[in-house]
Amino acid sequence: MINYEEQKLAQMAVNAKKLAYSPYSNFKVGAALLAKSGKIYIGCNIESASYTPTVCAERVALYKAVSEGEREFLAIAVAGSLDDTEPDYCYPCGVCRQSLREFVPGGADLIVIIAKSATDYQIHTLGELFPHSFGLEDLQPT
Ligand code: THU
Repeated sequence: MINYEEQKLAQMAVNAKKLAYSPYSNFKVGAALLAKSGKIYIGCNIESASYTPTVCAERVALYKAVSEGEREFLAIAVAGSLDDTEPDYCYPCGVCRQSLREFVPGGADLIVIIAKSATDYQIHTLGELFPHSFGLEDLQPT
């Protein structure tokens, strides 16, 4: 992945963060997911007064993409911070790692960009962040 694409995804995640609906935690997260088709899907976290329906930004982006027919993904950028605080690196929660892994068998190849800003980010793969995971291969006879 070239620098320009990383920075574009990081900037889109930072922008999407502003759309977060998070009146309970005041924690805002934005995500930008690049599908193999070349399309980019953004998401923000959406909270609920009954708490458990809360959905993370990464899964909002993923579900938007999957519901538009996408099944393969190249990269995701994530940006998150508590309101009025200096952004820190915000890593995807375990549920989001599992959800992303569903569409990236093994998880090894999905690039995960953890962004403070468009130019300040850390790069991992989903395989690094979520090793030895369970997936659809495990449900098939060997
Ligand atoms: N959150 C995300 O959107 N993504 C993550 O990976 C971590 C947590 C959201 C969920 C909730 O609205 C808020 O951050 C605090 O947990």
